[in-house]
Amino acid sequence: MKKRIILAITGASGSLLALEFLKIMAEAEVEVHGLISDAGVKVMDIEEGISFAELKNRADRWFDVHDFTAPMASGSARYDGMVILPCSMGTLAAVAGGISVNLIHRAADVTLKERRPLLLAVRETPLNRTHLRNMLTVHDAGATICPPVPSFYHHPKSLIDLATHFCSRLADLLRVETAVDSPRWGGLDQ
Ligand SMILES: Cc1cc2nc3c(=O)[nH]c(=O)nc-3n(C[C@H](O)[C@H](O)[C@H](O)COP(=O)(O)O)c2cc1C
Repeated sequence: MKKRIILAITGASGSLLALEFLKIMAEAEVEVHGLISDAGVKVMDIEEGISFAELKNRADRWFDVHDFTAPMASGSARYDGMVILPCSMGTLAAVAGGISVNLIHRAADVTLKERRPLLLAVRETPLNRTHLRNMLTVHDAGATICPPVPSFYHHPKSLIDLATHFCSRLADLLRVETAVDSPRWGGLDQ
């Protein structure tokens, strides 16, 4: 059976990461159900010049972020995990507080209660005490905090190289096999 993952895009900076993740999941033949917040739509347009209409064919299905009748609002729907990429401090706070203002928050809440992998690519700098406390709260509830902090040991030549490397690490955490040729550390003698 194909893996099925929820990708939630929020209004933090880093829309490119979501686009790269979608590409990698499509190549890995993972079924992706997409959600994008209202702020996410805005930031995607500002950063990448891509409208919601143009996003449509990059995932298998998209659901309205205000539609609580969508499958991911219930734990009985089959999903193998969820990634919030990028994740704003507002969405982090909602997940930490267990507040379901939109379907992204509800889907994250469900993912946690079903003990499925939930990855939050939180993006903000610097971080205040509330951000740090909320990260610890969701970590303790079972989520994995994965800030999109780049690594440089693989000598990236472009933003795409950085994004690919980060997204392939997310795929690892979701136990998704990919064909991505992103370097892995194998020791100094490799
Ligand atoms: C260009 C732009 C970049 C932003 N970057 C961030 C960011 O990196 N982190 C963050 O927490 N909020 C950021 N924001 C603010 C969020 O979009 C805003 O807090 C929004 O209410 C988040 O809502 P959402 O979590 O429902 O997407 C940014 C806003 C804009 C317009």
